[in-house]
Amino acid sequence: MSLFKKKRGIDETIKKGAKLITVADPKSPVTEQFRTIRTNIKFMAVDHDIKSVAFTSANISEGKSTVAANVAVTYAQAGRKVLLIDADLRRPTVHRTFNLSNHVGLSTVISSTAKKVDLDEVVQDSGIADLAILPAGPTPPNPSELIGSKRMQDFISLVEDHYDMVIIDLAPVLEVSDTQELARRLDGIILVVRQGKTQKAAIKRAVEILNFSKAKVLGFIMNDISPDNAGYGYGYGYGYGYGYGYGEEDKKKKGFFSGRKK
Ligand SMILES: Nc1ncnc2c1ncn2[C@@H]1O[C@H](COP(=O)(O)OP(=O)(O)OP(=O)(O)O)[C@@H](O)[C@H]1O
Ligand SMILES: [Mg+2]
Repeated sequence: MSLFKKKRGIDETIKKGAKLITVADPKSPVTEQFRTIRTNIKFMAVDHDIKSVAFTSANISEGKSTVAANVAVTYAQAGRKVLLIDADLRRPTVHRTFNLSNHVGLSTVISSTAKKVDLDEVVQDSGIADLAILPAGPTPPNPSELIGSKRMQDFISLVEDHYDMVIIDLAPVLEVSDTQELARRLDGIILVVRQGKTQKAAIKRAVEILNFSKAKVLGFIMNDISPDNAGYGYGYGYGYGYGYGYGEEDKKKKGFFSGRKK
């Protein structure tokens, strides 16, 4: 069962952006699940406050951008001042999700030599109260260098001071080496796992890489869960898991599956 009807070929998100169910249907059970994720992010970090959190996955197309954008919306809906950053410089989608220009964005800020960053010049209005967006910007020839740079780290400190919450859509861990430096700097990393797609070995490897880079892995989100597999868990001894999945059959039954595993 899927949250949306899937199309073959290129991911829809790349062409049209992620589906913002939290905007389209704030009362739906799926939106409620995104709110639960928001609430639990707070509890996932027991010994530190969370001001910056990134969503990543082992491989491409596992739902990072969909989850990151919807979680960002739920923070804004709760009245927090949020910045959503598209740090997936190779497969950027956030500008499409919010129908914004991608001429200026993270790549512009990080590759600039200007001493000070004027956030008002680069951050865009999402059209949703309290939610600001920094798109990826033009794809640079050296994404890994930019994402792993000291300037990137300093920029995160700057936006953490400016916003209540910074949400980052990160490239997949196994596909690129970008993620590690940045991941270590952030307050938390959440791994998006797509049921029926992400392989156990890939999840294990992704967690190993994140742990090796000393990232604070808060837990994982099981995306696209089939109600038939409600009891299925990966059984790793870290963090928490949240599931969301919503399909045609669920709608008919007016039921909804939500799985939480320790
Ligand atoms: N729960 C879901 N049910 C059905 N389709 C989904 C679900 N989550 C994501 N998708 C679809 O899967 C595709 C990939 O999702 P998304 O772009 O969010 O993943 P991603 O991990 O950011 O991918 P990329 O690696 O390209 O950045 C999109 O077409 C999206 O609409
Ligand atoms: Mg994406």
